[in-house]
Amino acid sequence: AAYDAGQHESFMRKEMLEQPEAAERVLRGRLDERFGTSHLGGLDLDARDLRAVRRVKVLGCGSAYYVGQMGAGLIEELARVPADAESASEFRYRNPIIEPDTLYVAVSQSGETVDTLLAVQEIRRKGGQVVGLVNVVGSAIAREAGRGIYLHAGPEVAVASTKALTTMHLAFSLLALQLGRVRDLSIADGRRLVQALQRLPEQLGEVLALEDQLVPVAARLAEAESLFFVGRVRGYPVAREGAQKFKEITYRHAEAYQTSELKHGPLALISPAVPTVAVVPDDELTERNVAALHEIAARGGPLVVLTHAAVDLGDLPSQAEVSRIDVPRSERELDAVLLTVALQLLAYHAAAALGHDIDKPRNLAKSVTVE
Ligand code: G6P
Repeated sequence: AAYDAGQHESFMRKEMLEQPEAAERVLRGRLDERFGTSHLGGLDLDARDLRAVRRVKVLGCGSAYYVGQMGAGLIEELARVPADAESASEFRYRNPIIEPDTLYVAVSQSGETVDTLLAVQEIRRKGGQVVGLVNVVGSAIAREAGRGIYLHAGPEVAVASTKALTTMHLAFSLLALQLGRVRDLSIADGRRLVQALQRLPEQLGEVLALEDQLVPVAARLAEAESLFFVGRVRGYPVAREGAQKFKEITYRHAEAYQTSELKHGPLALISPAVPTVAVVPDDELTERNVAALHEIAARGGPLVVLTHAAVDLGDLPSQAEVSRIDVPRSERELDAVLLTVALQLLAYHAAAALGHDIDKPRNLAKSVTVE
């Protein structure tokens, strides 16, 4: 039968709800509990090749770029290899220096985004080694890279990417784990992360179960003309992706910022008319993040706080409207994927409250195959 939204009101909602199974598929057969590592045959890189990697550069566009930023952070954290993400659309225009001991990672749902494809061609032309993190089997980027990790998310139709992003994040987790375990990541940490990854499909289901709680919060956010999405370090690309999703389907101005940078400028914009969606995981930065929430609330800025049950937000000034959402938690290194799904639900229900065509937002295409 043709792929259709079935009984669901939209492809985006159907695809969001498919995330637990998509997560299972990307992990299947790739985790090694005994040695606390992963096996990624498609990379075509043995332990020696992986140990020779001195730097990782991730390239992608749109949401794939933001997940790429999460992935680069994971690689630095687990493997202690310098890693960063860059938009593929900019990369080749700055005559990039291609280093032989850098591993380039091209990430794309469709495998057809021309900016990402041209970045891969540029790397190959200059003799660099590149792997693809791609969903569509046999697509242009998968073929051009020649090796990599297929995401197995299944077909994704809605322009706003959901399940593909989740599988991208998990593929980065597998890559970071393998790169880490051929270096200094301990077997104990490896096993802790393998076990956490095995629990993630079920936990994604638990995040999806927050939907009823998020509907009224999203409807309130939909009324604002302009919003901030903030996070720090691991939470910053989560905020960027959250803002991206929100603006794509609600057409509201949603700006992502590092929570730490608010005081260096945008705090001037905070008012009762400008809500902030804050990503506040239970981690090394919780106290600093909570202090920023107090700064926002003191200026009457409405807050939606995506956090974990253990986090104490303190007594926030009573003049501000505060909604707290406790998201299920994994290990700190992996929490980003669960927080990202909560932000998908928020964007979805804000767009639904506005009555928009969620699957086909104006001016956007599912994959951009022209420059
Ligand atoms: C387009 C879509 C975005 C998507 C980006 C990358 O701009 O509108 O939603 O994230 O392309 O797509 P890809 O298929 O390369 O992941």
